[in-house]
Amino acid sequence: MNKLSVGILGATGIVGQRFIQMLEHHPWFEVTWLAASDRSEGKAYAEAARWRLKTEIPSAVAGMTVSPAKPDGAPKIIFAALDAAIAKEMEPQFADAGCAVISNSSALRMKSDVPLVIPEVNPNHIRLIECQPSRRKSGGFAVTNSNCSAMGLVLALAPIHEKFGLDAVMAVTMQAVSGAGYPGVASLDILGNVIPFIKNEEEKMEEETQKMLGTLNGSGIIFAPFAMSAQCNRVAVEDGHTESVSVRLKTRATAEEITSAWEEFRGEPQQLRLPSAPDRPVVYLNATDRPQPRFDVDAGAGMTATVGRLRKCNVLDWKFTVLSHNTIRGAAGAAILNAEFLKAKGYLG
Ligand SMILES: NC(=O)c1ccc[n+]([C@@H]2O[C@H](COP(=O)([O-])OP(=O)(O)OC[C@H]3O[C@@H](n4cnc5c(N)ncnc54)[C@H](OP(=O)(O)O)[C@@H]3O)[C@@H](O)[C@H]2O)c1
Repeated sequence: MNKLSVGILGATGIVGQRFIQMLEHHPWFEVTWLAASDRSEGKAYAEAARWRLKTEIPSAVAGMTVSPAKPDGAPKIIFAALDAAIAKEMEPQFADAGCAVISNSSALRMKSDVPLVIPEVNPNHIRLIECQPSRRKSGGFAVTNSNCSAMGLVLALAPIHEKFGLDAVMAVTMQAVSGAGYPGVASLDILGNVIPFIKNEEEKMEEETQKMLGTLNGSGIIFAPFAMSAQCNRVAVEDGHTESVSVRLKTRATAEEITSAWEEFRGEPQQLRLPSAPDRPVVYLNATDRPQPRFDVDAGAGMTATVGRLRKCNVLDWKFTVLSHNTIRGAAGAAILNAEFLKAKGYLG
C-alpha cells in the first residue's frame, strides 16, 4: 500500500516530537513535511528541535528541512501541534487550502461545526465535518482531539454514562510537567511542589467533557447535561495525568457492574482494527494502590486509560482514579487515531 504523505505543524515541540516518534513506522502515513516557527524555519529538524524523547530522532526526519508554516507545498493531511493562539489563525488557513487538519490545540475544539472526537466514544461526531465552510469550498476540514486531562476522564466516564447515565462528575487532576510543553514549567517552580493552577484547564475539562459525551443532532451537538466540576494541579511527574473522580449516576449500579462496563468497553477503532487502537481503551486494575504514572502510564503503548480504586463515595455515589498518557493518548496518539478513523471512513481521499 502506498503511504499517505502527512505534515506536522509545530513539529519541534513536545507533541510534535511524539508525532514524529509514533509515525516513524506507521503503516498508512509517512511524514514528508515539517513546520514550526520562524526560529526553526530553514534549519535541519535535528538542529531545530530540542529532542526530549528516549528513542532516537528517526533518520528520515533528522535531516529534513523545517518548512515555513504555510499551506503552499504542504501535504493534504496535517497534524497540528501549535499553541492555541497561533492555531486559531493557522489551522483555518490550512483547512481553507484543502487540507485535513487534525489538531491538538484548543483553538477550534468548541466551535459548533468542529468535531471533538475520541473514536471509541463519539465516532458519529465526525459528521460535523460536512457543516464546515472549508469543506464545501476546498474539501479541507478540521477535526480536534480533546485536552489531555479531558481525554482520560472521558474514556473512563463513557462506559458508565452509556450504561447508567451520569448525573454529576467531580474531577481533581494531578498533571505531568510534559503537559506544559517545552521548556514548560521552570524546575524551581515544580520540584518538590504542587501548583494548583493551570490556565484555562478546568474550563476546558468541563466543557469538552460535556461536548464529547453529548449527542449529535443534525448540524450540532447537544451537550451532555450532567453537572461537572474540575480542579487541576501540576505535579512533578514527567508523563501521565492522574485524576481522582467522583460520580453520581442516574440509575443505581454495583461495583461489579461498573468495572464490567470498563472491562467490556470497546469501540469502532477496535472493530476496525486501526493501527494505533489499543486492544482495550480502558483497563481496570484491582491492586489497591494503582494506577500510578511510574508503572501504568505506558499501558496499551500509551493509548489505554487505566482505572482503579473504585469505591463508594459519601457525597456522590462512586469514586475512582484514572490515569492516561498526556502526550500519547492525550495528544499525538489521539490525533493519529483520529486520522486512522477518518481514513477508514473515507475522509482522507
Ligand atoms: N504537551 C501535552 O501534553 C499536550 C497535550 C494535549 C494537547 N496539547 C496542545 O498541543 C499544542 C502543542 O503543545 P506542546 O506541548 O507540543 O507545545 P510546545 O512544546 O511549546 O511546542 C509548540 C510548537 O509550536 C511551534 N510554534 C510556536 N510559534 C509558532 C508560529 N508562530 N508558527 C508556527 N509554529 C509555531 C513551536 O515551534 P518552535 O520550536 O520553532 O518555537 C513548537 O513546534 C498546544 O496547543 C497544547 O495545548 C499539548
